Amino acid sequence: MGEGTLHPVEEVPSGGVVEENRGGEALVMDGRREGVHSEEVPFASREALMEAIDALRRKKNAVILAHFYQEPAIQDLADFVGDSLALAQYAHRSQAEIIVLCGVVFMAETAKILNPTRKVLIPDRYAGCSLVEACPPAAFRRWIDRYDPSERFVMVYINSSVEIKAMSDIVCTSSNALKLIQKVPEDKMLLFAPDEHLGRFLQRVSGRRRMEIWKGRCIVHEEFQADEVLALKRRYPGSKVIVHPECNEHLIEVADFVGSTSALLRFVQTDEAPVYIVGTEEGILHQMKRAAPHKEFILVPPITGCVACQQCPYMKMNTLEKLYWTLVREEPEIVIDEELLWRARRPLERMLAWTTAQ
Ligand code: 13P
Ligand code: SF4
Repeated sequence: MGEGTLHPVEEVPSGGVVEENRGGEALVMDGRREGVHSEEVPFASREALMEAIDALRRKKNAVILAHFYQEPAIQDLADFVGDSLALAQYAHRSQAEIIVLCGVVFMAETAKILNPTRKVLIPDRYAGCSLVEACPPAAFRRWIDRYDPSERFVMVYINSSVEIKAMSDIVCTSSNALKLIQKVPEDKMLLFAPDEHLGRFLQRVSGRRRMEIWKGRCIVHEEFQADEVLALKRRYPGSKVIVHPECNEHLIEVADFVGSTSALLRFVQTDEAPVYIVGTEEGILHQMKRAAPHKEFILVPPITGCVACQQCPYMKMNTLEKLYWTLVREEPEIVIDEELLWRARRPLERMLAWTTAQ
């Protein structure tokens, strides 16, 4: 077995290509998505399926990494569960022959870039991200080229394509962005992409003056409503509002704490409040309830009132069944053009170095 024993959550200190895989649907005639495992699994129960996945992982020296937004069963099966930064750090040093990244494609691509000699798989190659889609490489190139390379510093959120990362000076995640931004020389024009809300939040907290922000949004976080939060706060005296920085500014204004998924998880473990109103994807509640079973967690209702909107449709494309077939067939595999991979690796390596530097 790759990195061996099952351990549901292991925080790391930081807190925590398939070209056509940008979340597009690419439907074939019978309504199934091309290249996606859709067969039934040959097991009578979910337990038997989970045992088979575990046996395959051991046999193939594979490690299963999962993001906090994955369904609880996948989180429970994973060797490691973390936020984007922790997943990147884990993948970077993994000795396993196969890394199965249960998250979205940019996370699997990051794992491949940081550990290119490993085979990196993802259960559903269409598990994209609205932020990746919001930042097409040609338009991004034009946007950054308004400034001479000597005048600008390009920081991109990890929720971006390999091509965008390859054009950047540094990559960041929601858990290290503030630390990294403070290291960027003040005389440079900081170009931040693709998340508009995260960018604005960072500018306000860091006090950065010379900064321009690309206008991309997360379709899940931008749905959360501040009015509903205030009503919930009144209904639950003593509660605290904790939100992800991808949320809109109205939500951030009413929040008691803003942080990455791992920072939110840490907060509910160390803070004293009995109830939390949580502004992020519902998958995180699995670990929150486990870490603080005596506390109550309420998800912020989305604008549309649709409960499924608290779920990331891309993250939820991965299922236990697809995970099983991924291990059986060792595909879909993340394949990235070598030259592009090495260009995207430089800003990712800089991210890892700046994250641990004083
Ligand atoms: P984290 O890095 O905070 O886990 O966020 C990833 C993400 O996609 C949030 O929507
Ligand atoms: Fe992308 Fe939003 Fe899903 Fe995160 S929650 S993966 S930012 S679409």
